[in-house]
Amino acid sequence: MRILFIGDIVGGPGRRGLAKLMPALRGEFEPDLVIANGENAAGGVGITERTANDLFETGADVITTGNHVYRHREAYDFLEREERVVRPANYPAGNPGRGHTVVEAGGMRVRVVNLSGGVGLRVARSPFDTVDSILSHHEQDAVIVDFHAEVSSEKVAMGWHLDGRVAAVLGTHTHVPTADGRVLPGGTAYVADVGMTGPRTSVLGVKPEQALRSLITQMPTRFETATDDVWVMGAVVEVNERGLADSFEQVMVPVERAV
Ligand SMILES: [Fe+2]
Ligand SMILES: [Fe+2]
Repeated sequence: MRILFIGDIVGGPGRRGLAKLMPALRGEFEPDLVIANGENAAGGVGITERTANDLFETGADVITTGNHVYRHREAYDFLEREERVVRPANYPAGNPGRGHTVVEAGGMRVRVVNLSGGVGLRVARSPFDTVDSILSHHEQDAVIVDFHAEVSSEKVAMGWHLDGRVAAVLGTHTHVPTADGRVLPGGTAYVADVGMTGPRTSVLGVKPEQALRSLITQMPTRFETATDDVWVMGAVVEVNERGLADSFEQVMVPVERAV
């Protein structure tokens, strides 16, 4: 069973870029399951029902999120009712949405878990305790974790914490891909960050001149999503019948060059 995982999709440029490239990605990787991080799907920050449906139409089967999930109030009701969208499981229990979901893919019941790092981000519970609790209370054939976290040490640690217990721990949030992707000794595919799906002529998706003005002057600055040089970034993981990974492959494809 093959999984295509897509990193933080940033705004319209990210959504359109992914839509443009998806036929080629499907042709090359033939995924049974597509998981996409949509926390930046709506205007660069947050997600809405419309942008989530846009990603479903493009081919996402499950959408994960992160710290920007509650940016758009009108999405709260949608997060409650849409079982294919998850938000970090270690947020306050009463918050809108769910932290994990199960989908059928390639003859397997796959649980997709979203977790937030506890270092530099606000959480209600430790991501380590939370994922342990989820794994001890649920049955499935394979588990994929989107670890939406800021700090590389915590991401590396989560890889080791879950090695041999889940099929993949795939990092998101920093929007910068890391070069540590591999299958760990216990059989878990791991990468600290898959990177973002959005404009590379940017600072994490924001127009460079605006991000620079903000950092240099420290004055309030309007941020807009950049548009140039859109890339799709993510990972492909081959999952075996034991629910562990046989391979990990990094995906970094410029939209313009591929079409
Ligand atoms: Fe993000
Ligand atoms: Fe984030």
